[in-house]
Amino acid sequence: MISFCFIRIFAHIIYNMQIHFAPLQGYTDFEYRNTHAHLCGGIDTYYSPFIRWEKGGVRDKDIRDILPENNEGLHLIPQIICGNTDEFNRLCDVVQEYGYGEIDLNMGCPAPMQTKLMRGSGILPHPMLVQALLREMERRPEVRFSAKMRLGLEDREEWRELTDMLNSSSLQHLTIHPRIGKQMYKGEVDMDTFHDIYDSITIPIIYNGDVTSMEQFASLTERFPKLHGIMMGRGLLARPTLARECLQGMEMPTGERMNVLMQMHQDMLDYCTRKYKVDSQILMHIHAFWEYQESQLERKTWKRIMKAGNMKNYLEAIRKL
Ligand SMILES: Cc1cc2nc3c(=O)[nH]c(=O)nc-3n(C[C@H](O)[C@H](O)[C@H](O)COP(=O)(O)O)c2cc1C
Repeated sequence: MISFCFIRIFAHIIYNMQIHFAPLQGYTDFEYRNTHAHLCGGIDTYYSPFIRWEKGGVRDKDIRDILPENNEGLHLIPQIICGNTDEFNRLCDVVQEYGYGEIDLNMGCPAPMQTKLMRGSGILPHPMLVQALLREMERRPEVRFSAKMRLGLEDREEWRELTDMLNSSSLQHLTIHPRIGKQMYKGEVDMDTFHDIYDSITIPIIYNGDVTSMEQFASLTERFPKLHGIMMGRGLLARPTLARECLQGMEMPTGERMNVLMQMHQDMLDYCTRKYKVDSQILMHIHAFWEYQESQLERKTWKRIMKAGNMKNYLEAIRKL
């Protein structure tokens, strides 16, 4: 009886927790998002990898990625990255032109190419700039803005300066990846500082970082019951059914999981074959599909896939899965 009640309460907590798919440049483009949504499910919101202003415009590739006809049936929030209000407004104009009413601002990217332009986590040591962008958001009441940020660029305390402005902003939600920019993706996520943010920020918070299992999902849900959601990135690339499994509170049998994976792979391979004419290009792109799956496959098998230098060897390696 007690355990039955526990399971019901647990399922209730889980059921209310949204799962968002983190944007990953080079991995979660529209074709991946479509096949993921179609075959795996479990995701409340997908985000496009960041769109930037470059050489007087937005790259065609980035526009193609957010075209409504390429994202039918998905809840997609396009993400922008910018280092001043001028870029912010240009990018918002472009995104809104395609009919979007939600935009996510990247304040987390650690790549020096972006941070040196005060973009991504490069914005975090500049509270005046953050304030200016938040003000610009208010001039577009028709758009629901959100943001995704780290603790800081160089220092884990930088976020504190932003607390009041974030609390009085119109942001719909704020995703926190509790690392600093200079860590890139290395080292531990700082859960103590995340706890401070959770206690200090009053707008809805989404946790992001290193969630790779149902157990981690359940323990975050229990530890931070007020969370608006949990965002997963590499954990989902490694195990695309993870969100569905977390929401159902039950692991999928391995055979079933592999079936889904092989269908996703077929979709992605068909797409790469249509898009790229040369085998080396097809291989480069399809390898991205497997890159984060090392932990889920037998090491030997994974290596054989990743090392296949031509299509014949690649297909041979896949057949052995
Ligand atoms: C290759 C790669 C590309 C990424 N591209 C983006 C991006 O375009 N926008 C963004 O906000 N974060 C980006 N990120 C960060 C992820 O969205 C996420 O915050 C990070 O991987 C931590 O979450 P995870 O541990 O669940 O993967 C990227 C990360 C990686 C590794």
